[in-house]
Amino acid sequence: MPGVQIRRLEAADLDAAARTSASAFALDVSEPSTADRWRARVAHPVSTDPDGAFVADRDGRVIGVAQAIRRERLWCLSLLAVAPDAQTSGAGRALLDRALAYGAGADAGLIPSSSDPRALRLYAFAGFSVLPTFEAVGAIDRSALPRADPKVREAGLADLEALAAIARDIRGAPHTLELEFALRSGARLMRLGDRGYAVATPGRGVWLLVAYDEAAAAALLWSALALDDDAERPSVRWITAEQQWAVEVVLRAGLRLVPSGALCVRGLPGPLRPFLPSGPFA
Ligand SMILES: CC(C)(COP(=O)(O)OP(=O)(O)OC[C@H]1O[C@@H](n2cnc3c(N)ncnc32)[C@H](O)[C@@H]1OP(=O)(O)O)[C@@H](O)C(=O)NCCC(=O)NCCS
Repeated sequence: MPGVQIRRLEAADLDAAARTSASAFALDVSEPSTADRWRARVAHPVSTDPDGAFVADRDGRVIGVAQAIRRERLWCLSLLAVAPDAQTSGAGRALLDRALAYGAGADAGLIPSSSDPRALRLYAFAGFSVLPTFEAVGAIDRSALPRADPKVREAGLADLEALAAIARDIRGAPHTLELEFALRSGARLMRLGDRGYAVATPGRGVWLLVAYDEAAAAALLWSALALDDDAERPSVRWITAEQQWAVEVVLRAGLRLVPSGALCVRGLPGPLRPFLPSGPFA
């Protein structure tokens, strides 16, 4: 990788990091609202984990980004992206090595991966089990929606402390900082007592779901899907083979299952079931 330096992502790099990563994922950020949302998503892990965010810099140009977060004993890869014209020349591996070093001492790791074969190779060789996943896409058949479960209620910032134990038990660490970020960004948080919670953004699909039991998980997923009133393409992502409860719900809701990406797991985060990870923050 001649001429490429891996260094910390500084505040001044945020715009370039957002642009570069959007181009790597072929994300259309021509709409200002989409660009703002993507920038905020890239800014969140920098604000919580400034020592876990890196750029690959070639002659003063940001050509790649890696972001990792640590929550208690859990390390998650939040972002790994290299500009299309700089890919396959080793920058991705060098960035991942730095992001992994930030997780030294963590006893569990999670990466919601894209289907990019280079990414899957990097994660597998870094000691992660690669669990293939489905994405559920399409328009919801609203006639299939069951009557709303009265036990599911809308939650907010005041609920976060009570919800921390669920994610700690199921995936190794609470989502508190990420739930604050999601709520600030307009997402809706739903809670079923102390049995589980889900986050969804109307029109943009289900973002996260964690529960202790499958009945609670299914009720939460139905409630989250019901929010997607006008969505042409609601999506539920990173559905592993362990989540047959979710397979049943999304199929009954009229969505299509398509193979997409993998959930990569290292160490012992927890049972990871019932669980639909958050793409950016697992
Ligand atoms: C995935 C990505 C970050 C990898 O970065 P990169 O700089 O392009 O990749 P690298 O050059 O570091 O190569 C990574 C590995 O893939 C291997 N590789 C190269 N071409 C490959 C191919 N066609 N199929 C499989 N592996 C391939 C490399 O040999 C290397 O493995 P090695 O270090 O064991 O030899 C980058 O391609 C990217 O941004 N892709 C689009 C966005 C994305 O999907 N990001 C991952 C999100 S989880």
